[in-house]
Amino acid sequence: MSLFATKPLSRIIEESEGGGHTLKRSLGATNLVALGIGAIIGAGLFSLTGIAAANYAGPGVVLSFVVAAFGCAFAGMCYSEFATMIPIAGSAYTYAYATMGELLAWIIGWDLVLEYAVGAATVSVSWSAYVVSLLKDFGIQLPPQLAASPASLVTLADGTQAHGIVNLPAVFVIVMISLLLMIGIQESARVNSVIVVIKVAVVLVFIGIGWSYINPQNHTPMVPANLGSFGEFGWSGVVRAAGVIFFAYIGFDAVSTAAQEARNPKRDMPVGIIGSLIICTILYVLFAWVLTGMVNYTEFKGAAAPVAVAIDKTPYAWLNRAVKMAIIAGFTSVILVMLLGQSRVFFSMSRDGLLPKIFSEIHPRWLTPYRSNLLFMVFVSLFGAFAPIEVVGEMTSIGTLFAFVLVCAGVIIMRKTHPAHPRPFQTPLVPVVPILGILVNVGLMFGLGWTNWLRLFVWLMIGLCIYFGYSRSHSKLASH
Ligand code: ALA
Repeated sequence: MSLFATKPLSRIIEESEGGGHTLKRSLGATNLVALGIGAIIGAGLFSLTGIAAANYAGPGVVLSFVVAAFGCAFAGMCYSEFATMIPIAGSAYTYAYATMGELLAWIIGWDLVLEYAVGAATVSVSWSAYVVSLLKDFGIQLPPQLAASPASLVTLADGTQAHGIVNLPAVFVIVMISLLLMIGIQESARVNSVIVVIKVAVVLVFIGIGWSYINPQNHTPMVPANLGSFGEFGWSGVVRAAGVIFFAYIGFDAVSTAAQEARNPKRDMPVGIIGSLIICTILYVLFAWVLTGMVNYTEFKGAAAPVAVAIDKTPYAWLNRAVKMAIIAGFTSVILVMLLGQSRVFFSMSRDGLLPKIFSEIHPRWLTPYRSNLLFMVFVSLFGAFAPIEVVGEMTSIGTLFAFVLVCAGVIIMRKTHPAHPRPFQTPLVPVVPILGILVNVGLMFGLGWTNWLRLFVWLMIGLCIYFGYSRSHSKLASH
């Protein structure tokens, strides 16, 4: 069979509705928007906004959020077109299977591990750091070596430095969320919605309180003059900062992995994907405006917690704790949606025979791919517990951008190969919008530097070994 054999659309849809235990269609539009917001608002907003302002864009970081939002919106529309046409858990993997063939589908499915599983591990480590810090505020001190991987150095009570042993809080959060995901999609969606309400409320309170502390002088000039090299302030700095804060937007695409669990995917998928993106863009722009208005961007330089620097300008010290809690809540839902997405993509890949069957076994009562959740619980926990996560963090961004590029390209191909297939949501101005999506997202990929390209390449090579060693000979498409 050709490496580029595509899977017929009719067969994809027929198989997804096929007999036996399958995923449960129970999510409505509100759940989907909440899943999007759950995945989107997290570490990116709270920590990267200040860093990007201090190092690259000054108050221009507000514009960086707009630039990155455009890149995401182009991709978001393409995702929506596919998610309504092919409402399958595999998301970008399945779209690639239908348009570009099995090999590219495999590559994208394997690439999504970077976004979802590695992303979840990365966030679990940040979660751990914030929980340790919050507990400390309440006078509870965890042994530092039990909250850090062997790759990181920690300061012990006697002031000496030592390597960490294991990051137990990171393991804890991964295990709890995996158990929740196993029990049911509705239960998971409910917990996610509560978390989303908490974190959005804190963001709104910060914006509301901070607004009256804005000093207009901090916003002039909006784009500080370039310091001589690309990316150091000036307009190039705005672009560079857009690459950095792109991480803050990651997650809206994960909504598409819940397509097979949506009650009415044709109507609700675009609402979930684009709705969550619009809400978060508005919140992000306002947040960045307030943050850079309260504090001069130069003061963020080297600050570990930029938001705390801003809050210290107000008499509301309690807000610091509220923000910390919102960050922890934010991280929790990001991990939840990423682990959800991961198990759903592997579910589809396994149904197609490209991965062992264990990834698509559905629990008879919970109607979730519980074994897959269990395996990822172990894998992601080990990663969070022991891996030098700083090294792999940016791989999440490059992996996601790569998926976006292929999804945008897929829309153009699908319009050629299946012009008449019903498209409940149509990306406007094809091929202009997908091409812009490709250009912006490739541009952002370049902003991430060659080491990340190298890591992406190595990761994909490992994937190809598995494909040629296992998947190709087990592919159901080939044996059909
Ligand atoms: N967008 C998510 C975050 O900022 C990944 O944490």
